[in-house]
Amino acid sequence: MKDTYGRKIDYLRISLTDRCNLRCLYCMPAEGIPQVPHEAILTYDEIIELVRVAASIGIHHIRLTGGEPLVRKGIVPLVKAIHAIDGIKTISMTTNGILLPKYAHDLKLAGLDRVNISLDTLDPARYHEITRCGSFDAAVAGIKAALEEKLDPVKINAVAIRSLDQDFFAFARYTIDMPLHVRFIEYMPVGNSRGVDGCGWGADDVISCEEIIAIINQKARDAGMQPLQPIDKDVPEGRGPARYYSFPGAKGTVGFISPLSNHFCSTCNRIRLTSEGMIRPCLFSDQEFDIRAALRHGDEGDVRSVLLNALAAKPGEHHEGGHARATTVNMNTIGG
Ligand code: GTP
Ligand code: 5AD
Ligand code: SF4
Repeated sequence: MKDTYGRKIDYLRISLTDRCNLRCLYCMPAEGIPQVPHEAILTYDEIIELVRVAASIGIHHIRLTGGEPLVRKGIVPLVKAIHAIDGIKTISMTTNGILLPKYAHDLKLAGLDRVNISLDTLDPARYHEITRCGSFDAAVAGIKAALEEKLDPVKINAVAIRSLDQDFFAFARYTIDMPLHVRFIEYMPVGNSRGVDGCGWGADDVISCEEIIAIINQKARDAGMQPLQPIDKDVPEGRGPARYYSFPGAKGTVGFISPLSNHFCSTCNRIRLTSEGMIRPCLFSDQEFDIRAALRHGDEGDVRSVLLNALAAKPGEHHEGGHARATTVNMNTIGG
């Protein structure tokens, strides 16, 4: 399926819920979010029908996101049903990992291929601060469960935020002995979740990937190590915009996602579905297409039309402008 700019769109990111068992500073308000009425959320049967229609027009890759996808009950049979749909080639998930020890085994059996796990620091006290409640040990247990169940390549997503003063080098060094792919993500102006106790998006809080690479390489040289080398072969399997590097001889890689300093709109391959059944053609836009109404009151042709309309409206690039908020809803609603 091609959009109006000739980009092949074959990737659908599905947010299963906007709820979460954590409260990351940059993602959700401290007090949590208002409860959405049960009937507003797409049922699993509706999601399965939507994926079936999407697959028939060229969507081959599904990523399940949230909030935290694993807090929604019954996810294992959903993965199994999506796996059985003709045309679906891969299913992946973005999760905070806390519930992976409980679900990783069954998810693998159901057909989940791989997971990306959010972890912004290697310091347990900072982890608790950033997530406002989370246990670092529980997140690490989730990473271990993913590795044990071969939900690989296992990627770690670390949002880079200047005021959090993260130790990028410690993170990058972790990939030498562990078969993990640590990705640093530029802090994007999505939503408005800044709490009184939180850091909040502002141009001052953005650290560009180039700066992170320079910090890591300086520390590597100080430690008598070789700097990171860009890699274009043997990059971890994926459908996303990360650019990968590695330390010589390392088991894992270090990736960089640079939506602000070096945006990748020209190669964008995806659309998004919110848990309330809205298709969002671009992460940086509030434009939505109501596919829930088509699923509930229309037929297959109506569902297909909404998908095609959303595709036709996909912008060529985003203009978050560097200062303004790009969306009014928070990341937990869109799923990244
Ligand atoms: P892989 O297939 O494993 O490479 O997945 P991915 O990087 O597409 O997915 P993931 O959910 O791990 O997203 C990593 C980061 O990239 C998150 O911060 C997302 O918000 C961000 N991201 C994903 N897709 C887009 C996009 O289309 N535009 C922008 N600006 N950011 C995106
Ligand atoms: N900028 C960049 N990445 C973000 N994420 C959440 N909010 C932001 C933001 N403002 C990340 C999460 C998760 C992924 C879905 O998006 O850490 O890994
Ligand atoms: Fe939950 Fe992920 Fe948002 Fe953190 S970033 S509050 S783990 S959805």
